Amino acid sequence: MKKSYAVLGISLVAIVGMGILAGSINGKEEERKAINQNPVVKENGVEAKNEEWARYFPREYDSWKMTQKSETIDDLLKSKPQLVILWAGYGFAKDYNAPRGHFYAVQDVTNTLRTGAPTGPMDGPQPAACWSCKSPDVARLIEEKGEKDYFTGKWARWGGEVVNPIGCADCHDSKTASLRISRPYLVRGLEDKGVKMADISHQDMRSLVCAQCHSEYYFKMTKETGPDGAEKITNTVTFPWKDGFKGEAIEAYYDNIGFADFTNSLSKTPILKAQHPDYEMFTTGIHYQRGVSCADCHMPYQQEGAIKYTNHNIGNPLDNAASTCLTCHQETEAEFRKVVATKLERKEELHKIAMDTLAKAHLEAKKAWEVGATEEEMKPILLDIRHGQWRWDYSIASHGSFFHAPEETLRLLSQANQLGQEARLKIAAVLAKYGVVGYEAPDFSTKEKALAVIGVDLTKDITAKEQFRNGLLKEWEKEAIDKGLLNPKSREGMSNHTSGSNN
Ligand code: HEC
Ligand code: HEC
Ligand code: HEC
Ligand code: HEC
Repeated sequence: MKKSYAVLGISLVAIVGMGILAGSINGKEEERKAINQNPVVKENGVEAKNEEWARYFPREYDSWKMTQKSETIDDLLKSKPQLVILWAGYGFAKDYNAPRGHFYAVQDVTNTLRTGAPTGPMDGPQPAACWSCKSPDVARLIEEKGEKDYFTGKWARWGGEVVNPIGCADCHDSKTASLRISRPYLVRGLEDKGVKMADISHQDMRSLVCAQCHSEYYFKMTKETGPDGAEKITNTVTFPWKDGFKGEAIEAYYDNIGFADFTNSLSKTPILKAQHPDYEMFTTGIHYQRGVSCADCHMPYQQEGAIKYTNHNIGNPLDNAASTCLTCHQETEAEFRKVVATKLERKEELHKIAMDTLAKAHLEAKKAWEVGATEEEMKPILLDIRHGQWRWDYSIASHGSFFHAPEETLRLLSQANQLGQEARLKIAAVLAKYGVVGYEAPDFSTKEKALAVIGVDLTKDITAKEQFRNGLLKEWEKEAIDKGLLNPKSREGMSNHTSGSNN
């Protein structure tokens, strides 16, 4: 008896003990679930305010915010004044800087002289589409208003709405936090290329979230007359991918639809301006072909105690080589810095020759027009310039292509040089026909000289921009704060120097 009571007693203690233990395990499990269950940032719709995500995802948020540290403005028209000639007649000839941290995207598109100095929602040189790669508010507007309405009208129309820089909701679903394509035009672009969305893998998504913005696109324009009789112009971001990603394929696509971004004001060439085909160029390189994604290098995993998370400080992977390159390679960081620097040098060498050659071709073509060359004589020349400039631009407009796809970059640059030289030979023959021999293009060796050559004085643009910044821009900010779209604290500590030419 005694013995059996004792056994029962022990069993009871054990059972109660197990119960407590189980309770504690369940408690831990609950806690684990609460943390891991991807808490809902927003049940319905898109949460564009990045700081609203910080509560649940502090590490991702804090590392994302580090992109604020990449703040240097690098005026490329100063270091590459040929660009002013190549883009004569287009906004890029006025203002063009190297990319910097995602944190500055809204500030930079607002400050650049390219977006002009609108005085109201219907005014200014750029369409609404110009916001598309700058902000999660674009994902929000597309969801709230529909894509078509978002793309209708002028850039200034959304000044009081697009206020948060590239962030969480650009790449994540606000409810589930899983990776998401927030831009429907990327889905259309991929489908045009024959990609089935059902076949997209998780590893693909780790590049495709970037491809939403780091891609080549153009604005497809449509006009409609509204019920009030007013003309409504819609410019939809469209990826020209139907015939593939190769530079020549995209060139043929644009040639077939007779598209040009602008006409060069010197040579009268209808020019294609490449945007930033990082994704397309990347796919021609060895890393893509071996299954490496953008995030593998630009967003490495980071260990913090027992917690592993994705570092959201998107920048130069070499600044974090131990977590990026060296997870796959055996070289040292120093060796890799040298490898990357050498690739850059090689590209820069051909890049400079291409820009000089094409810039001279534009100026010499201008001379040919002046001395009486005919449309017929100029036609093949302008086609060479158009194709040469496109191949140059497509190869280098992606600032990382020299590393992502070195062979393809150099291949296209050598073609650009070849086409530029052919154009110049043909122009020399035309000039000779009109009695001009040994013509030398004017000096464009500095930004100031190049601006003088194209006859552009930026003083007026800069003054107008300042007026805009002190006027309408302040109204936009106030409007966004009043509507609860912008938390003014999110901009604390943000440097506010403006782009190269107007600081
Ligand atoms: C440019 C795209 C991009 C932006 C912007 C972005 N993320 Fe991510 N995020 C990713 C990618 C890629 C991963 C890796 C996902 C994977 O492989 O499953 C990731 C992973 C995550 C994860 C999963 C856990 C982890 O750390 O791996 C969370 C949570 C997350 N991000 C939150 C955020 C938050 C919060 C923000 C805004 C402060 C943000 N993300 C901004 C692309 C982005
Ligand atoms: C919503 C559009 C958008 C998305 C999504 C996006 N980017 Fe960007 N990215 C930009 C823009 C715009 C800039 C230039 C910002 C500036 O200079 O103001 C930029 C700049 C950069 C830079 C330069 C940063 C620096 O400090 O010099 C890198 C690198 C980069 N992006 C990589 C990526 C990668 C990798 C992804 C995907 C994980 C990605 N981006 C997703 C739009 C985007
Ligand atoms: C194998 C590693 C690797 C992969 C994968 C990779 N990159 Fe890069 N990326 C680099 C390196 C290295 C640089 C050069 C960094 C530098 O010199 O600032 C770079 C540069 C860039 C730049 C230019 C940054 C600047 O400030 O000039 C952008 C933008 C960029 N990458 C975007 C992407 C995108 C988008 C993808 C995917 C489509 C991608 N990268 C895939 C390693 C990688
Ligand atoms: C996820 C794995 C992975 C990461 C991360 C990675 N690589 Fe690679 N890398 C590869 C693979 C795979 C190859 C192809 C090797 C082969 O097939 O011979 C390659 C090839 C290379 C090559 C030779 C091809 C060429 O383009 O010259 C260089 C150089 C290189 N990587 C540098 C880097 C650098 C620098 C980084 C970091 C910025 C990096 N890699 C990050 C996997 C990776």
